[in-house]
Amino acid sequence: MISREESWKLVTDHLKTEHLLKHVLATEACMKALAGKLGGDETLWALTGLVHDMDLDVVEADPARHGKFTADVLRGKGFPDELVNAVLAHAGHRAPETKLDIALCAVDPTTGFIVAVTLVRPDKKIAGVEVRSVVKRMKEKRFAANVNRDQMRTIEKLGMDFEQFIGTCLGAMQQIAPDLGL
Ligand SMILES: [Fe+2]
Repeated sequence: MISREESWKLVTDHLKTEHLLKHVLATEACMKALAGKLGGDETLWALTGLVHDMDLDVVEADPARHGKFTADVLRGKGFPDELVNAVLAHAGHRAPETKLDIALCAVDPTTGFIVAVTLVRPDKKIAGVEVRSVVKRMKEKRFAANVNRDQMRTIEKLGMDFEQFIGTCLGAMQQIAPDLGL
């Protein structure tokens, strides 16, 4: 398996936008924590989260290439097929099939939703965010309206309780709060 350090170098060679770098770090943390709960390989799941969006700056003018560009780079570097397939699935180029595919698709919108819940707090600090406040905001259609709630809920396909999912992601993001600027 390619090291975390080498993977991060690959990400930062391609991805420069600060909020996207924070998004991939959040996704890495959530995926690692979820692997622990869902019987996945922590290293593989964390790396998948870290690299999944590394082409977003590169394909900005041609969003249809999102995921495919990353997949080509990762294959060239010898990343495992399971990881590459999850990247393709999250960008809509394959149907999500494996636990890894499904978890990545569910986590992807969830990190942004948790950030949005954090930023409406007076202190803008993730440390004080609670699971119930995240779950409550799910019902407010106008709140973070661009975030796909149905996609977040696809974690339930893996038999995971939705509140447990939010708690796992929130806890993981709280642990790296300084990296996320939260
Ligand atoms: Fe993403």
